[in-house]
Amino acid sequence: QDTHKFRLFDVMKWAQAKYQQCLLESPDSQAARKYLGERHLAGASVRQFGLGFAPLDGEWLVKQAQADQVPPELLVEVGLIAARDEARGYYDRFRDRVMFPIRDAQGRAVGFGGRIMPDSPYAARGPKYYNSPETLLFKKQEQLYGIDMARHAGSSAGFLAVVEGYTDVMMAHQSGIANVVATMGTALNARHVAQLVRHVRKIVLVFDADDGGNTGVDRALEIFVSQDVELAVATLPEGLDPADLLAQDGGAEVFRKALGDAVDALDFKLNQLFAKAEHGTVDGVRRMLDIILGIIALAPPVPSQSAQLKQELILTRLAQRLGVELRSVRGRLK
Ligand code: UTP
Ligand code: MN
Ligand code: MN
Ligand code: MN
Ligand code: MN
Repeated sequence: QDTHKFRLFDVMKWAQAKYQQCLLESPDSQAARKYLGERHLAGASVRQFGLGFAPLDGEWLVKQAQADQVPPELLVEVGLIAARDEARGYYDRFRDRVMFPIRDAQGRAVGFGGRIMPDSPYAARGPKYYNSPETLLFKKQEQLYGIDMARHAGSSAGFLAVVEGYTDVMMAHQSGIANVVATMGTALNARHVAQLVRHVRKIVLVFDADDGGNTGVDRALEIFVSQDVELAVATLPEGLDPADLLAQDGGAEVFRKALGDAVDALDFKLNQLFAKAEHGTVDGVRRMLDIILGIIALAPPVPSQSAQLKQELILTRLAQRLGVELRSVRGRLK
């Protein structure tokens, strides 16, 4: 079992090197290099993060594997190629995409995210980012992009920032802000938090400000209630994600300030509700209370004594901000 896993790690390492060599050296990758340059991704970070390119040719990786005598079955198993019907060979699953290796905490590639080239003939079909399927090595829900590069910086900064995307992490690093990881579009979950708390006691969530409404906040708040970790939410200028912001002049300063000004998650949620301005009435206050208590009630059972204390503190703060008795808040939670 373990030896098989190591073979798969080796295959991933081989594929990453091939894609990377293609991006850096092949004439077929000129458009990809230009695209990354236009996005302000520096050559040094492209190398540091091991980016590559999967060409348009539908059998490019298949042929590379033949030449290097890599067994196709292993490439099928890690989700990079697939078998054609009726034993008519194999085809590449990633085509005309910039390849972002997703690495575990030890820096081993376990999957890939492939971004379609903007003017690709395939751009209209399929998602913007195509990801490796679930494999023996890759569980997308558990992975934190950039954790291998960010964990030490996180320990020294005292917190880790969690962004949405690959390029957000890269642009942050490139701007000298290294304590940043990405959930790759999924909401922060308990398994993410379990990994993060090995390095820090505080997490700062940074949502894209491009698609209105921070829907991830509620899910994160559930986790925050039951885990022994501080959670804050940073706000970016309207319309931007971190990568967009960091590509602008002075963007790094704005991003740093946003991290520094991050608001405690519970207050963030309360502010959101207060902004909807129905708090003037008794019904309004009760609705707000029920929304927050609903989130707390959904949280997994409180495991530790300090988390229990935390829940008490949360209820106390709720009572204070809503101007109701702690007793009635506790009563209503039941
Ligand atoms: P975004 O839509 O914000 O993409 O999704 P992005 O990172 O800003 O991408 P660019 O700047 O257009 O290149 C955030 C993250 O969600 C995941 C990816 O990890 C992406 O970075 N995602 C998004 C997918 O897995 N598939 C998709 O089709 C889109
Ligand atoms: Mn987005
Ligand atoms: Mn977007
Ligand atoms: Mn984005
Ligand atoms: Mn983006």
